[in-house]
Amino acid sequence: MTIWFMTSNMGKVTEAREHFSKFGIPVRQFEFEAVEPQEDDLQKVALSKIEQAIPHLPAEGDMILVEDAGLFVESLNGFPGVYSSYALSTIGVHGILKLMSHLKSEDIVQDASLRKAEFRAVAILYKDGETFIGEGVCPGRIAHNPTEGHGFGFDPIFIPADLDENGEALEVGEMGHVSTHGTPFGGISLEKKQEFSHRRRAISELLHLIGNLG
Ligand code: IMP
Repeated sequence: MTIWFMTSNMGKVTEAREHFSKFGIPVRQFEFEAVEPQEDDLQKVALSKIEQAIPHLPAEGDMILVEDAGLFVESLNGFPGVYSSYALSTIGVHGILKLMSHLKSEDIVQDASLRKAEFRAVAILYKDGETFIGEGVCPGRIAHNPTEGHGFGFDPIFIPADLDENGEALEVGEMGHVSTHGTPFGGISLEKKQEFSHRRRAISELLHLIGNLG
């Protein structure tokens, strides 16, 4: 029994291996090129990719994993959202900052609120005709300037909301137990990012569901 992770990103495969090894389930990269559907919802995108891949499953009893994520900026009506990859490769992080350049306030709390955004991830696992869905959200805000160094994608401009002692995200701008102190993901280690990560939350939820499979 193998989990075939449909992704071109080996970093994601490594992360998933770490999670699923607890169940003794091997994770392998599945290099299947699915057609990206024109959907406005991460879950629909991920489900469509799974459906396209099912007929190509290497062996009966194997599983397919798909994980889709995006950055949703409140003041931009959720843009780039499901178009995050496209937005990154066209306007990039500087384009997002430009679209938001008029949104600033001297008041720190108000400024944070104007620049609210969240990362969302959906992880879907297909097994024997059934699909299990895990979702993860990481609320935060968009920085005024990029911080490079760590991570990928929109990490240079995304500042996660602080977490309370139970690991739950607080309101954007509130001070909490776990904090990057205003530093975007691009300025912190991957290990620290994992504490906040939408992807980690989505896969954890999935693991919880699989754990109940018996
Ligand atoms: P995908 O699910 O990897 O295709 O994510 C779509 C796009 O969202 C990526 O190309 C990134 O631009 C962005 N994205 C998703 N997750 C993250 C993250 O953890 N940090 C930064 N950007 C991300």
